[in-house]
Amino acid sequence: MTPNRLTIVLIGLMGTGKSTVARTLAAHYGIDCLDTDKLVELRADKPVREIFSDDGEPAFRDLESEVLAECLRTPFGAVIAGAGGVVVREENRILLNEARASDGVLVVWLHARPEVLAIRTARGVHRPLLDEDREGTLIRLSEERAPLYTSVSDIVVDVSDRSVESVCTLLIDAIDEALKYGDGSNG
Ligand code: S3P
Repeated sequence: MTPNRLTIVLIGLMGTGKSTVARTLAAHYGIDCLDTDKLVELRADKPVREIFSDDGEPAFRDLESEVLAECLRTPFGAVIAGAGGVVVREENRILLNEARASDGVLVVWLHARPEVLAIRTARGVHRPLLDEDREGTLIRLSEERAPLYTSVSDIVVDVSDRSVESVCTLLIDAIDEALKYGDGSNG
């Protein structure tokens, strides 16, 4: 396989390990790693928390949509760590599904039980949505977003009881398998 155009998007709730897994997968396939939160922060020139407090969540979501669209247009392939809310806007889900259908982009949903995520997100500053009732919020977001994640994903992995290493091993097998049976446009 020559994965120079391989594009993989990781989606899932906060704390599922998208950024860490993205870095490992990108190194494995020798492609770029893009992180929508980091690109949004660069564009706004301030941290996610300050975008939420100064400009409001809709302004954050506008930047997130812009950045996602640009990431999906990368000509060289990449592993894209999408922030947890990247599926909330319909326009983003349409973009993801178009990229899957026409460019062979693979979307991977990292799924985990909300109570596990509540522990994993205990530290970390870029998640203002979890400032109050972290576990309750994660339970609610998990219920609200599960159908949205499902509607755009090719591969689902339950990461609740797995180490990052075992998630990556499993994913590399699943991605290689998916590429073997894909239409060949992605690689
Ligand atoms: C959010 C997820 C966060 C960050 C922001 C909102 C969400 O990113 O974009 O706090 O709505 O799920 P991570 O998924 O990288 O934590």
